[in-house]
Amino acid sequence: MTPTAKQQQLAALLSQAIVIPVLTIERLEHAVPLARALVAGGVRTLEVTLRTEVAIEAARAIMAEVPDAIVGIGTILTVDDLARAQALGAKFGISPGATPDLLKAAAASSLPFAPGIATASELMLALAHGCDLVKFFPAEPSGGIKAVRALAGPFPNVRICPTGGIGEANAAAWLAEPNVVAVGGSWLCPAADIRSGNWAGITAMCARTMKSLKPA
Ligand code: 3PG
Repeated sequence: MTPTAKQQQLAALLSQAIVIPVLTIERLEHAVPLARALVAGGVRTLEVTLRTEVAIEAARAIMAEVPDAIVGIGTILTVDDLARAQALGAKFGISPGATPDLLKAAAASSLPFAPGIATASELMLALAHGCDLVKFFPAEPSGGIKAVRALAGPFPNVRICPTGGIGEANAAAWLAEPNVVAVGGSWLCPAADIRSGNWAGITAMCARTMKSLKPA
């Protein structure tokens, strides 16, 4: 895949999704019911973060048993994490930041990848490695919508997926920004609901969110 095709694929995927739940799965047995609950609420594009021991197995289980889910891997911190995401067959990779080694490996890989940025210099490094779609993290503490508007001045063609501090109350405002393709966050999958198996509650919250953000 050419670098441009890879970026276009990522942009299409995220802009179709508009909301990406950032999943921290502590127990393998939560993976499939959680993914089913999200998909049932209209949220199909999922970021399984590499924050727990079971993350890769959880993503594998979702890919095998929830065919309507589009599974990406998040919290990619190292070249090895990137390789694991690709070997798994993830549809995309996301990182909270970037290192030169990670950007180089991502440029050489066929996995659509969004590195994390919070400053103009970090964005310039990402662009130098062909990444014009980035995660803006942590979005609210790093200046929020005002910061994204300011970055759009020197970087009008950059597409952004903000995460960090986004929830039901501000998701629509973020999505109204022309360079924001999707928003990510953990608010659709609260740890307490996952631990208690409140799958119906997660489905209801997703359905409500999707109805308000993407009316049919
Ligand atoms: C991420 O990695 O994107 C964040 O942990 C999500 O941030 P949130 O928990 O504030 O939504």
